[in-house]
Amino acid sequence: MSPNGIHPLLAERFSPCRFDPSAVVDDHALGLLLEAARWAPSAGNSQPWSFFIGRPREPDHDRVLPHLAPSSARWATDAGLLVVTLTRRHIDDTSLLYSEFAEYDLGQAVAHMTFQAQAMGLASHQFRAFDLEGLTKELDPNPGWVIVSMVAVGKAAGGPPKARARRSVAHLRSAPWSPAE
Ligand SMILES: Cc1cc2nc3c(=O)[nH]c(=O)nc-3n(C[C@H](O)[C@H](O)[C@H](O)COP(=O)(O)O)c2cc1C
Repeated sequence: MSPNGIHPLLAERFSPCRFDPSAVVDDHALGLLLEAARWAPSAGNSQPWSFFIGRPREPDHDRVLPHLAPSSARWATDAGLLVVTLTRRHIDDTSLLYSEFAEYDLGQAVAHMTFQAQAMGLASHQFRAFDLEGLTKELDPNPGWVIVSMVAVGKAAGGPPKARARRSVAHLRSAPWSPAE
């Protein structure tokens, strides 16, 4: 167990701002990351997720790179793997929701993927700093599907930042409702 009592996989995870450009995410590792996402729970087992994958020197990587914001390009470019996450928000080209929980379920699948990465000695940095409109034009997802986020996965170069802040456990249990009379 870690000093704060939670599982080391959770305690040791952090979002690196530097990746080792020489570290490869091979086919076996990639398969396990997707397998982990695949086994995430979802509302009604609807599995409203999809992943567009690119690794350095692959054509799909080149399709994604130009759409990174400068702030994320600084570190995401060196990661061994870039994952674009998509969810099925609507039923085809209607305005009907495919699932009330589509984004929630995608987030959980991504969490599974990132902890599988952590268990394999890889780090993940999820991010929104990219040109959503430009990337959507580039990938042209099927009707009803939308790009939500990206994840850079690879070998972290360096450790976590010294100061990492979180709200207290007490705060988790108190904030958004009034105390009972
Ligand atoms: C949906 C989502 C979007 C994020 N977008 C960005 C981003 O655009 N740029 C960035 O540097 N980090 C981004 N992050 C990473 C968070 O800033 C980071 O997880 C948070 O500061 C906590 O740090 P830690 O992951 O190292 O514990 C994002 C994380 C999530 C889950």
